[in-house]
Amino acid sequence: MPLDMDKLVSLCKRRGFLFQSSEIYGGLNGFWDYGPLGVELKRNVKEAWWRDMVSGHDDRTTLPGAPEPYEMTGLDCTIIMHPQVWKCSGHYDLFHDFMVDCRESKRRYRHDQVRGRWVEAKGQRIFVASQEGGETGLAETEQRALKFFNLRAKNAEELAWQGPLVSLTTVADFSLVLGPDAKTLGTLTEPREFNLMFKTYVGALSGEEGAAFLRPETAQGIFVNFKNVLDSSRVRVPFGIGQVGKSFRNEITPRNFTFRSREFEQMEIEFFCHPKSSPDWYRYWRDRRYRWYLDLGLAGDHLRLRDHDRDELSHYSCGTADIEYAFPFLPPGEFGELEGIAHRGDFDLRSHMEGKLARKGDELVVEEGADGKPRHRGSGKDLSYRDDLTGERYVPHVIEPSAGADRATLAFLCQAYTEDMAPDENGKPTERVVMKFHPRLAPIKAAVFPLVKKDGMPEIAEQIYRELKPRFPVFYDEKGAVGRRYRRQDEAGTPYCITVDGQTLQDQTVTIRDRDSLKQWRLKAGDCAAELERLLRG
Ligand code: GAP
Repeated sequence: MPLDMDKLVSLCKRRGFLFQSSEIYGGLNGFWDYGPLGVELKRNVKEAWWRDMVSGHDDRTTLPGAPEPYEMTGLDCTIIMHPQVWKCSGHYDLFHDFMVDCRESKRRYRHDQVRGRWVEAKGQRIFVASQEGGETGLAETEQRALKFFNLRAKNAEELAWQGPLVSLTTVADFSLVLGPDAKTLGTLTEPREFNLMFKTYVGALSGEEGAAFLRPETAQGIFVNFKNVLDSSRVRVPFGIGQVGKSFRNEITPRNFTFRSREFEQMEIEFFCHPKSSPDWYRYWRDRRYRWYLDLGLAGDHLRLRDHDRDELSHYSCGTADIEYAFPFLPPGEFGELEGIAHRGDFDLRSHMEGKLARKGDELVVEEGADGKPRHRGSGKDLSYRDDLTGERYVPHVIEPSAGADRATLAFLCQAYTEDMAPDENGKPTERVVMKFHPRLAPIKAAVFPLVKKDGMPEIAEQIYRELKPRFPVFYDEKGAVGRRYRRQDEAGTPYCITVDGQTLQDQTVTIRDRDSLKQWRLKAGDCAAELERLLRG
């Protein structure tokens, strides 16, 4: 059964994973806050990424699939950078979507996200638009067409549909379009460019002199620090720089929970290598990053690696693959991007050296303005690399695995949500909701309970809690029936519950319960830390 997204959204709010930003004021579209459980979950996602990709990387071993050993290091750059960064990166000129406005509903849509169907009835042919795809889109366009042509559902066969749902980008004549929220035809404006970067002003200058942008990606901070990292550390090519941090995009239609937000976090690596070995490194990173999601619990049939067609590639890329997840809010068979792995060639380093580059045939050349001068000047700094062993000097090629921390967290939430049957305290099978997070990602690793709040059980349970707390995020709970406490921890995704009961008073053993198998076993109270360590290590 596909997951009902409403159930997940409601659990996220009820149990404190995610809240709408500024909710008491009605919320702000495209902005989300992580609650007490959500902040731990997202931190665990980011920490797993940082540890597996950067701080825990073994730079003396050739990892499976890698052409040779490589080094990894990290950075933490500012959100506001010199405006020239965005001119040379191409974001100032090219980072836009096309939007259309509806004069009737006053709503705004992303041109490429509106779909619709051509239909003819009563001698008139129109394009009925919708923001939905799949079955929902088909049902919605049918309802709206019936209403537009003033037909009853029993006369639906009078609607002559011409083809499947197609993008609004295929429609030339907007006077024939019934907008997604309109009652009359021809209310959508022509598509207009809309730059996605948030603009702000630095210092007291409010004119263009002080204008700056909130970064739309963390990647550029890495490129402009390439030379600093080379000069200040002893890294040699091939090596990678990782960064985790906020990015901002003024998305026209933020939607699907946190999937498309206006403020989000990225986990990006820029990997610098010799041009000749770059295709091998591209394949290595593509496969390594795909495996990372599988290892943390995303199901293989919900995850796919998709190589881009040539016409899909970004302005800088000569090879890109997406890691995609079958998010439950998408129509069946559709996948949403979790991470892109791009072969960016030397586009970024050269742009920051020479000025904004553009493709001319097969070559990258500095783009010229109408006056024949470079459109946007680069820094003029030498960002090439000299191999001190071979003496060769070159501009390294870059492989960029670029992941979204919020999208990954959302995918882990969707994957974890499970409804099953489990015995209640009387042994009767009852429905339960359980978040089956990978133990590394679980916000709380174990909960400690006294079976009842008397006979010295709370004191023993508190002692176990105190022993565990400095080493693991654990939770103590003595309120309410123990069955209900188990259920609360199942919803929080806590993999283990430790319970002090009557037998503990006699033989100092406690029970430990596994969230997924519901198996329980006994162990000495003093062995809880070692047992938890063993279980979490897997
Ligand atoms: N430096 C390359 C880059 O930024 P991207 O495909 O635009 O590439 C990388 O973004 C990742 O960032 C995406 O795969 C996605 O996980 C995340 N991301 C991008 N836009 C997002 C948004 N509006 N909301 C949430 N995550 C987003």
